Amino acid sequence: MSCRKLITIDGPSGSGKGTIAQCLAEKLGWKLLDSGALYRLVGLDVRNRGLDFEDEASVGALAASLDARFDKGHVFLHNQDVTNDIRSESAGNDASRVAALPRVREALLQWQRDCATSDGLVADGRDMGTVVFPDAPLKIFLTASPEERANRRYKQLKEKGMSANLPRLIEEIRERDERDSNRKTAPLRPAEDAILIDSSALSIDEVTGKILEAADALFNDE
Ligand code: DC
Repeated sequence: MSCRKLITIDGPSGSGKGTIAQCLAEKLGWKLLDSGALYRLVGLDVRNRGLDFEDEASVGALAASLDARFDKGHVFLHNQDVTNDIRSESAGNDASRVAALPRVREALLQWQRDCATSDGLVADGRDMGTVVFPDAPLKIFLTASPEERANRRYKQLKEKGMSANLPRLIEEIRERDERDSNRKTAPLRPAEDAILIDSSALSIDEVTGKILEAADALFNDE
């Protein structure tokens, strides 16, 4: 009997998990859950409304009624296209702040679980294998050195014509790792049954290939 079609990819920002998750979803013909985008949307909404980031009750209520939509690679907040706005460094930092609030995580939990259907799902995030889908049959934890991750981010931002400062990016990545790994609720850590992959010296194709190999053994047993 084949397994539930679900792969979780967790890891820090810049580990390549977004690209890898997208690649896998396309190759397998499965859906993709970019859970970081949800936290980025909440962060953006908090900033746009001028709410206090420390006010957990208000930020949690906002997350519970998040008016977001994903459509053909575009992300909408209150029907406004915010695809680029949520990708800035400051939006990432705001996301990390709201992601540390238990009420926000709780509010987004069911939303994320509902994405796992029989069509297959690749779920990309920090706690996909530990909290959101602890029973996933294939869990990957992807990492890379902070310097390598900052370098990748630097190139991405430059390609998009956005401003970037490499030393500051390294510093921000370290700070965000620290906050994401040390928060009380759903900290960034590999699930006990996750396969660890260090992507520092591997290409996207090499990482994707390794995961597809593991997926093949699990999901194509008929
Ligand atoms: O993957 P990303 O860079 O888009 O994530 C933005 C922030 O959201 C990141 O700092 C940590 C947080 N996040 C989280 O706590 N849990 C997730 N499942 C996804 C993202």
